[in-house]
Amino acid sequence: MSTSTATDTAASTPEGPEIEVRGLYKSFGDNEVLRGIDLEVRQGEVVCVIGPSGSGKSTLLRCVNLLEEPTKGQVFVGGTEVTDPDVDIDAVRRRIGMVFQQFNLFPHLTVTENLTLPQRRVLRRDKAEAARVAAENLERVGLSEKATAYPSSLSGGQQQRVAIARALAMGPEVMLFDEPTSALDPELVGDVLAVMRVLANEGMTMMVVTHEMSFAREVADRVVFMDGGVIVEQGAPAQVIGDPRHERTRHFLSRLLDPARAEVPEETEETSDQVGKADQ
Ligand SMILES: Nc1ncnc2c1ncn2[C@@H]1O[C@H](COP(=O)(O)OP(=O)(O)O)[C@@H](O)[C@H]1O
Ligand SMILES: [Mg+2]
Repeated sequence: MSTSTATDTAASTPEGPEIEVRGLYKSFGDNEVLRGIDLEVRQGEVVCVIGPSGSGKSTLLRCVNLLEEPTKGQVFVGGTEVTDPDVDIDAVRRRIGMVFQQFNLFPHLTVTENLTLPQRRVLRRDKAEAARVAAENLERVGLSEKATAYPSSLSGGQQQRVAIARALAMGPEVMLFDEPTSALDPELVGDVLAVMRVLANEGMTMMVVTHEMSFAREVADRVVFMDGGVIVEQGAPAQVIGDPRHERTRHFLSRLLDPARAEVPEETEETSDQVGKADQ
């Protein structure tokens, strides 16, 4: 499902990365949040980014689509340098779909209208074409029957699938997901992950910040573990999740699998030791 736009520039050979991050730094005031990130995502690759809260995962995604301006470094998407000061930011953003933890649907618009509005405003599609693409993408996420519903009548999982369909309706080359299931009740998580799994199988290039380790294990081509604004390790899911090389990764994963350990700081020597390390 790759697109032809990737061939627009000489820089993007078929083997070239779809997303390339080089020496990326980002500070907010004195707070240096990203401290030298180098990362490549190939066309059709699914990269899951994991790491503790505050490690810079959202900031990294937001720098890829220029919702944040990097302090230093370069980002390329489909061979185009998006950090070039002369770049057409709107054109870049059209190539990148983003799905957030909060779905950000317009409450006063129907599901279909939520999908057609950005197509008409940003891509200047006519009404019939926008409606056709909306219907096609609602079907993709299994929500054709909700076309005329309002967001408030949908479950959180359904709203998130609408948000995914809205992003897909713009025809992105790349999809960025920032903890797309973190706001959902546990029983609704599976349907959203199923949609993402289908997208991955269709060959969409995806960067996914998630705490869903079973999804990362099954769907990711690569898992990237971030801590303190750097990539601590990356590799095949079975390696990073199943047999991490670094103590920080092991510690993060053990807390994720057994959160209670982190919540009883001084009960045992073992847990207090672990919690102490987490704060560094
Ligand atoms: N717009 C912002 N202004 C100031 N600080 C920010 C902003 N966005 C993020 N931060 C800070 O950057 C750090 C990393 O945040 P974030 O990228 O959201 O981490 P993560 O997604 O891994 O939890 C945090 O300390 C956060 O407070
Ligand atoms: Mg985040």
